[in-house]
Amino acid sequence: MSEPKYRSPKGVHDVLPEDHQYMTYVKKAIRHRARQAGYKRIDPPLFEDRAVFERGIGEHTDVVEKELFTVGRKGAEDDAGNKQFALRPEFTAGICRAYIEHGMQELPQPVELYSIGPCFRYDRPQKGRYRQFHQFSIEVIGLSDPSIDAQVINLLVKIFGDLKILERLTLQVNNIGSAEDRKKYVDAIKDFFTGKERHLPEVDRSRLITNPLRLLDSKEEDTIILLKNAPTMEQFLSDESKEYHATFLDYLTTLGIAFTPTPRLVRGLDYYNQTVFEFSDRSTGAQNAVGGGGRYDPLIELLGGKPTPAVGFAGGIERMIWHMKEAGVKAPNKDQVDVFVAQLGPEAKKKCLGLVSALRDLGVHTVGALGEASLKSQMRLADRFQARHCLLLGQLEVKDGTIILRDMTAGKQKQIPFDKAIPEIIKILGKKNLDTYSITDKLGEYTDPGEG
Ligand code: HAM
Repeated sequence: MSEPKYRSPKGVHDVLPEDHQYMTYVKKAIRHRARQAGYKRIDPPLFEDRAVFERGIGEHTDVVEKELFTVGRKGAEDDAGNKQFALRPEFTAGICRAYIEHGMQELPQPVELYSIGPCFRYDRPQKGRYRQFHQFSIEVIGLSDPSIDAQVINLLVKIFGDLKILERLTLQVNNIGSAEDRKKYVDAIKDFFTGKERHLPEVDRSRLITNPLRLLDSKEEDTIILLKNAPTMEQFLSDESKEYHATFLDYLTTLGIAFTPTPRLVRGLDYYNQTVFEFSDRSTGAQNAVGGGGRYDPLIELLGGKPTPAVGFAGGIERMIWHMKEAGVKAPNKDQVDVFVAQLGPEAKKKCLGLVSALRDLGVHTVGALGEASLKSQMRLADRFQARHCLLLGQLEVKDGTIILRDMTAGKQKQIPFDKAIPEIIKILGKKNLDTYSITDKLGEYTDPGEG
């Protein structure tokens, strides 16, 4: 095969049909569990005013500073020459913008929302790290209580359990206190590193200035060594924060959820306070979290709304699928071809057009080879489509009102009256295996609009 002229951009992948088997399965599990817990779906737009992310996620976070894909038309830049829009790197900031914009504070609180879809980050592509990836996000807005944080985690435990990957994950939890607690702690960290800057790698030296808390989850060895003697967040938690965290942990225990206290967990986005948590790979540790979240009480106010507490989580769907594959979890293949219809001659072709259409209406996955190839090569094609059955209509069969039904697995065939073809196929497949979904009677089951 010659080299293709065009390829998808670096870090960006096609979601091929075989990937969709997993995607659809994962999305179904999320939707099912989210609905059970009263969540409603929201899809913020793929791009927003970039200020929503800058204000919300924080100007000095990696996501905003390095990873935002900005978009815009020439001539529509702001005064500083920046493009005005950015592709969403996550859902939370957009959902909160929507909460304010649509007056959702008037709804009964908390408002429980979930999103599923592609997000974009100009990350350095590597295993599990892409520039376009899929997240599901769940958000509970309008109430602050440790029992809500525990319920969010319980929902995630159910989803990961359904997908049979829970056992591969560890739940890491921490409390990063209130804004005041953190301010005191940040000052203490700065004090601690004063005079030690030259021992820090460059990336952490600049973090010390812009976002000192991020030093805590630094992957740099020199920083990790220095941190061993640094003050811990716990020492700066107010009694209120300590009590909040203890109650939260107690609720997790009540729900039978295992967790690992992780004092160094701070998360990479600025909007968090109190509870933070991550589900990470049990075998490799925190490197590639399958998902993370926490309480983000300051965010709605930061975006111009009334102070409104909230908590949420986002999972990376590609990373979840990777774990499913590693665990040998198979997603059901609903794309199988039940019947391949082969024909020869103009009369046969006409009859087959109606036959193919009727079979499909009845829920039989049917492929019709309506070209001009010989019956033999159409049969080979049926094989390559992995069709279970083949219906063959040649000129002879048209004449005597029959059709050939071939079982492709057994390699056996029989000639039957043309009128019996449909009832015979239905009988063989069994009613329960038919794809008889209809948009008019099962609207609620329809895949979500805009589902990518
Ligand atoms: P996050 O930790 O930035 O949190 O992202 C959540 C998850 O998205 C990650 O754990 C990972 O599985 C996946 N992810 C992130 N970046 C990439 C990438 N480049 N390639 C593949 N997967 C990726 C948030 O986004 C917050 N909005 C979570 C949240 C919701 N907090 C409160 N509510």
